[in-house]
Amino acid sequence: MEPDYSGDNAEIAAIKTAIDHGVMHIDTAEIYAAGHCEELIGKAIKSYNRSKLLIATKVAAGNETYDGILKSCESSLKRLDTDYIDLYLLHRCPNPAMPIEKAMAAMDRLVNEGRTKNIGVCNFTVNRFKEAQKHTGNKIVCNQVHYSIQCREAEIKGIVEYCQNNDVLLVAWGPLQKGALENAQIVEEMAKKYQKTPYQIALNWLISQPNVVTIPKTTHLEHLEENLGAIGWNLSDEDSERLTKKFPDQQKVSDRVPLDYPAAIEP
Ligand SMILES: NC(=O)c1ccc[n+]([C@@H]2O[C@H](COP(=O)([O-])OP(=O)(O)OC[C@H]3O[C@@H](n4cnc5c(N)ncnc54)[C@H](OP(=O)(O)O)[C@@H]3O)[C@@H](O)[C@H]2O)c1
Repeated sequence: MEPDYSGDNAEIAAIKTAIDHGVMHIDTAEIYAAGHCEELIGKAIKSYNRSKLLIATKVAAGNETYDGILKSCESSLKRLDTDYIDLYLLHRCPNPAMPIEKAMAAMDRLVNEGRTKNIGVCNFTVNRFKEAQKHTGNKIVCNQVHYSIQCREAEIKGIVEYCQNNDVLLVAWGPLQKGALENAQIVEEMAKKYQKTPYQIALNWLISQPNVVTIPKTTHLEHLEENLGAIGWNLSDEDSERLTKKFPDQQKVSDRVPLDYPAAIEP
């Protein structure tokens, strides 16, 4: 699909505004807008101190052969207009035809050659994560999964606990359910109690948990400011626990990337 270039200036301005507000973890992927997201980030970060930013990008599903990963990474570096990536991620566990050991060998080579500082994965079950870790000499520093106050698959499948017990960062994507978080009474109650908005409560519920960080997406300044207001305070343990238990209509399986998809390793 051809990228839509019409919003480029606004998108670049939004990324710069986020950096000006203190955001340093920028997440993208070769597949987002067919590489154009990486190009926009490359343009936006030009005037900033590169060493202060954490740029994460991903090799797309289907490109995870040994040569495919090396090639995808080079293309991402070119589009990002940078010498190195801070965190290079497998977007999915490779499909059954692609051995994980070859994928991890390519990831190791990228680290050895300084093309990426760290490696990570997305949407891996605990079993897939452990198996991938066996085939790399580098620590897999994170697992990026769909996790929100509404979507609990990562909790149910033990990924949150595994990350917390093994010094792995859980990067929660989709933290706001694409801006359609359920309007739950318990969240409204907490919002009133803490003088915050419901979305700030939902984000704080995530980042109050050990080893959990999140990457909400927005192109609107007022949403950016609102989301940044989720930082710098904490729900009490009791309130956090109440939200964990009482948030209604919890999704047991992600409605976007269920974790039992076919791959080189059993889920
Ligand atoms: N690894 C993976 O497989 C994977 C999959 C999906 C996503 N991701 C990553 O995760 C990031 C976030 O995920 P996502 O975009 O799917 O979901 P999200 O962050 O939960 O939702 C983004 C949506 O929420 C809206 N929004 C943001 N702040 C808001 C606020 N304060 N009030 C109301 N609406 C608000 C945004 O609209 P406005 O722009 O209008 O604010 C946008 O439409 C993506 O950008 C991507 O980097 C990774």
